[in-house]
Amino acid sequence: MKANVTGSKSGQILLQNIRKQYGTYVAVDDVNLTIAPGEFISLLGPSGSGKTTTLMMIAGFELPNAGKVLLDGKDITKLPSHRRQLGVIFQNYALFPHMTVEENVAYPLRMRRVSKPDVAARVRNVLEQVQLTQFASRYPHQLSGGQQQRVAIARALVFDPPVLLLDEPLGALDKKLRQHLRNEIKSLHNEVGKTMIYVTHDQDEALAMSDRVAVMSDGRIRQVAAPRDIYQKPADLFVAGFVGEANFIPFTVDAGVAVTSTGEKLELSTFDPPTKSATICVRPEHLKLNPSDEKRIDGISGHVTDLTFVGDATMVHFKSSNGLDLTSKIFNTTRDNNLSVGDACFATWAQDDITVLSH
Ligand SMILES: Nc1ncnc2c1ncn2[C@@H]1O[C@H](COP(=O)(O)OP(=O)(O)OP(=O)(O)O)[C@@H](O)[C@H]1O
Ligand SMILES: [Mg+2]
Repeated sequence: MKANVTGSKSGQILLQNIRKQYGTYVAVDDVNLTIAPGEFISLLGPSGSGKTTTLMMIAGFELPNAGKVLLDGKDITKLPSHRRQLGVIFQNYALFPHMTVEENVAYPLRMRRVSKPDVAARVRNVLEQVQLTQFASRYPHQLSGGQQQRVAIARALVFDPPVLLLDEPLGALDKKLRQHLRNEIKSLHNEVGKTMIYVTHDQDEALAMSDRVAVMSDGRIRQVAAPRDIYQKPADLFVAGFVGEANFIPFTVDAGVAVTSTGEKLELSTFDPPTKSATICVRPEHLKLNPSDEKRIDGISGHVTDLTFVGDATMVHFKSSNGLDLTSKIFNTTRDNNLSVGDACFATWAQDDITVLSH
């Protein structure tokens, strides 16, 4: 983890059992999270899962009903937002329309009564960082969406907060621009080394940008891990289904043998079944479809129902003999996709490429 610009390691956030209730509805339920100084962490989850509410409690715009928020070891749970000194960036940039870029960015410093020459120097600096120097005297309506978003980032950075909170900051932008700006935010993070807490429901964004991802659903954190682990070792069925595409193959264990609902015996050498039933999670790129005349002991028999060309790959849809729908992703760089609709085949996988999730 990097030290921030001042060389110190400030910017640690600790959430201890925080809960937020609106009436009887629990929006955030007993969330615990330790965010290291300089870390880039994403809160990822579907709409209504409690991401914004969690961020608002860190920012001080919402008061938790229970639990604590600590910044660098100090309890800030009840501290008003303006005294927390955290930089906050929202989806709707909320720039002041009657102020130029320069004035917008200077605003937080003026509020803090920073001296005029100091304001000028710091604004110049931060505009350079986000590559907006040439737009300093423009008004927000004279800027593109991406440029406006960078002004918002500059305005949050200018008072050198130890932590930046970003709530779907790229939500309003088109896909190309989102990708471009997420790279910019990432390099800015590498440059300034500040803690960044990034709310998104876009899994690609979360996986691409983060040191760690916290996956939320129904107000709870389901898993916190590095992007690779979230994808390769999902903790439960929700995480497996929400992050990336997944095939689910439910099975039961009978006399030490795992059998699918279609009656096929499964080879599960790495699995010591703790329960009577579980589900195999296998990503489409790991599901292999082999011609049925190849002799195999493991796999599920069925046939190809559809082929979808998605550019870099072809998604081959497969139905097992008893009606289980699976998808195999075959990259179009390999020219060995000879499958056609109706072909009989075996769906197989390597033991190392699957996750077995107990129910
Ligand atoms: N002020 C409020 N009063 C009542 N319910 C609220 C309030 N704010 C949020 N909620 C509810 O709490 C839940 C979590 O909301 P939150 O805004 O944190 O979700 P989110 O994960 O940010 O979703 P999205 O991706 O749609 O922004 C939702 O069901 C929402 O309706
Ligand atoms: Mg939200």
